[in-house]
Amino acid sequence: MNADLVVVGSGFFGLTVARQCAEDLGLKVLVIDRRDHIGGNAYSEPEPETGIEVHRYGAHLFHTSNERVWQHVNRFTRFTPYVHRVFSTFQGGVYSMPVNLHTINQYFGKALGPDAARALVAEQAGEIDTAAADNFEDKAISLIGRPLYEAFFKGYTAKQWQTDPRNLPGATVTRLPVRYNYDNRYFNDTYEGLPVDGYTAWLERLADHENIEVRLGTDFFDTSQEVSKGNVAGNVPVVYTGPVDTYFGDAEGQLSWRTLDFEQEVLPVGDFQGAPVMNYADEDVPYTRIHEFRHFHPERDYPKDKTVIMREFSRFAVAGDEPYYPVNTPEDRQKLLAYRDLASREENVLFGGRLGTYKYLDMHMAIGAALSMVDNKLTPHFKDGAALV
Ligand code: FAD
Ligand code: NA
Repeated sequence: MNADLVVVGSGFFGLTVARQCAEDLGLKVLVIDRRDHIGGNAYSEPEPETGIEVHRYGAHLFHTSNERVWQHVNRFTRFTPYVHRVFSTFQGGVYSMPVNLHTINQYFGKALGPDAARALVAEQAGEIDTAAADNFEDKAISLIGRPLYEAFFKGYTAKQWQTDPRNLPGATVTRLPVRYNYDNRYFNDTYEGLPVDGYTAWLERLADHENIEVRLGTDFFDTSQEVSKGNVAGNVPVVYTGPVDTYFGDAEGQLSWRTLDFEQEVLPVGDFQGAPVMNYADEDVPYTRIHEFRHFHPERDYPKDKTVIMREFSRFAVAGDEPYYPVNTPEDRQKLLAYRDLASREENVLFGGRLGTYKYLDMHMAIGAALSMVDNKLTPHFKDGAALV
């Protein structure tokens, strides 16, 4: 192997680091990934029967307010003008999300203006004092009142966490967005859109540089292959974007994650639900939401008599599951501090990305963090010989 840098993981974090180092620092970069495809969780592929692009690890919507990230990503893809909107089904009705003036008026059967709606919600929220609320349910009621909580958050949250919200910490809720206007855009960012020719094409262009080699099906902890932890760490600089606990052999215990199960189905109709995402807030519906992928790309020429839907189920991850969202209990935070300490003493290895830092990162955050790592750590190391820690 004649690489100057090994990157473990070909997700947005790893590929962004690889690209910057290959291009700006002229380094030979070897990227390995244990999966048989690049792109990490942003990977997408056409469903074979319909050609409809599906996101294998859950629906991915790109949005950012970060100018530098926006400039950067536009080098590798163009974006459609897609704007994300979500609806929620509850007890046989369909409501606008996030909770806005339309939702409030639909739910209470009224025609309130912003001030009257604010007064109504404030009155209902007065039932519980926020300072005294010590669990998710009380805190939520103290912010938006019992009726809206029970309709749009109680069942959904219980299904997300498989836990009664009364047994979830109040700190889980910092704010519950309620908009006192008819704005139902899901994201507030300056820029939003979907990659014109899909996520995988974007990720492939990111990796497409003469100084970058990608090896798939290659696990950093498999000692039988050339660039395993034992062979490489300490010799060649490594940017590691796998799970931080796994790197240290779970020495401080395993960090806990939530995972998702997806049930994908091709249906013989042109349009199943009329929108890309429908949340299901009722507790007796086992899934949290249904994605219908054709609606992410209304501009494409997809079949008119078939559609692809994906039901999403949420639960705590066990060994072998994909880690998706950090649970972040007080015990997890203790363990994370211990792992950060170990990581900071691991010479020539930098930890990044959502798994390497045990942090939920949107794509634009992963890309932004990768650009910062190149600026603040890798460039000083490779240009000026600064230590890599
Ligand atoms: P990843 O994409 O997870 O990449 C890490 C890579 O490391 C993986 O390919 C993995 O196989 C590899 N790896 C791990 N261990 C090893 C090992 N031992 N050896 C070799 N390779 C290894 N972001 C948005 O902006 N918008 C969204 O709508 C959105 N939706 C999401 C929905 C879900 C369900 C999830 C889970 C995430 C979503 N995200 C979304 C976040 C997005 O997926 C992340 O920002 C992105 O994946 C972060 O990239 P990453 O490189 O840090 O991690
Ligand atoms: Na380190």
